[in-house]
Amino acid sequence: MKIMKIKGNRELSGTIRISGAKNATVALIPAAILADEDTTICNIPEITDTEALCDILRLLKVDVKRASESIVIDPRNMENIEIAEEYSRKLRASYYFMGALLGKYKKASMYFPGGCTIGARPIDLHLKGFEALGAKVTNIKNKYVVEAEELHGANIYLDFASVGATINIMLAAVKAKGTTVIDNAAKEPEIVNIATFLNNMGANVKGAGTSTIKIEGVEHLHRCFHEVIPDRIEAGTYIIIGALCGNRVKIDNIIPEHLDAVIRKLEEIGTDLEVGADYVIVSKNVKYKPTTLKTDTYPGFPTDLQQPFTVLLTQCEGKSKVIETIWENRFMHVPYLNKLGANITVKNQTATIIGPTDLKGTDVVATDLRAGAAMVAAALFADGETTITNIEHILRGYESIIEKLTDVGAKIEIKEI
Ligand code: EPZ
Repeated sequence: MKIMKIKGNRELSGTIRISGAKNATVALIPAAILADEDTTICNIPEITDTEALCDILRLLKVDVKRASESIVIDPRNMENIEIAEEYSRKLRASYYFMGALLGKYKKASMYFPGGCTIGARPIDLHLKGFEALGAKVTNIKNKYVVEAEELHGANIYLDFASVGATINIMLAAVKAKGTTVIDNAAKEPEIVNIATFLNNMGANVKGAGTSTIKIEGVEHLHRCFHEVIPDRIEAGTYIIIGALCGNRVKIDNIIPEHLDAVIRKLEEIGTDLEVGADYVIVSKNVKYKPTTLKTDTYPGFPTDLQQPFTVLLTQCEGKSKVIETIWENRFMHVPYLNKLGANITVKNQTATIIGPTDLKGTDVVATDLRAGAAMVAAALFADGETTITNIEHILRGYESIIEKLTDVGAKIEIKEI
């Protein structure tokens, strides 16, 4: 078992370079099988979720070549093999193979995906979208078979602007006959990145980044080169860490517009920030004002940064609130923050944080990926040493976290016990 040990209360300074976005990468890799030739994607983060998806590609007999930050995916010899549960349950994004295989072969057979247990995480909107395109869905226990004689364009309204359903329907629709319109589509930057990749391959996807996406089906998709956008959630995590412990920490290689809601909240509580064209420089402040934040779909405050931001709210003077509207079970970090010394109560979907409180190192658990990021942020700020277990969750989403934090002066290490 791997654990993380962090000696806290150290001032951090220097530059942290942000990697390619996990939540774009995990859709781009399955999307690559739609091409008739090889595609090259660069700025791929080295995280365990990337590895798990490459294992699925290899299972499907897809040729995968990794070279530092890029990947070449050649599906010319691939076979449409059922994706076994041991592969699909490693991560949530395995479900993008459902849309991609359906789009390519008109048949996908796989098991229910895994991922963080932050809510029930149904896939009904994905399946409704596939059905609208002409597919039949058979579900026995955890296994799903989705197949169609022919996929045809359709008008699809999503009851919720789901990131996963929007992407999965795009993947299934790019080669369908005719026009597909997705209304109430998710608008996250990752969706735009996937649509750009598909268009680079020869697809005809318009409107990504707005709530209406229009897809004209094409017959063939070809070789292309593509770049993953910077990870706005990784960037936000390090900006929050900078606001807790930083003395001019530069978060580099980012698209600040993707973090607008987060930057506005940080400014509102009094964070010392300098926002450049592709970077943010952040320092800790002696006094922070309390605030209320409510998670929302993009461009609202991202649920994925709610947990790390809560750590910063423990240092605000007075009562802050966090209202979680996306996931039913995203406060699992709270008992561990309280164990570190925070004063947080949770009722329904709202956390109330009374600050400022001293934090003191202790043993905590990374219950999910972003709860893990919150533990790292809290441990870096706290007095003394913190040990974090279940760090597999953290390694699923943060490339070279030890190296990046060590480079700015943190005392952090991973130990095998
Ligand atoms: C993506 O999850 C991200 N994961 C999540 O990031 C992120 O929290 C989430 O979008 C919201 O931004 C990946 O991109 C791999 P949704 P996804 O479908 O696509 C409900 C992280 O920490 N819903 O937008 O699964 C669902 O239950 C991860 O990096 C249905 O009801 O999220 C939730 O309440 C965690 N039926 C809401 O919609 C469906 O068919 C949003 O889910 C689909 C979703």
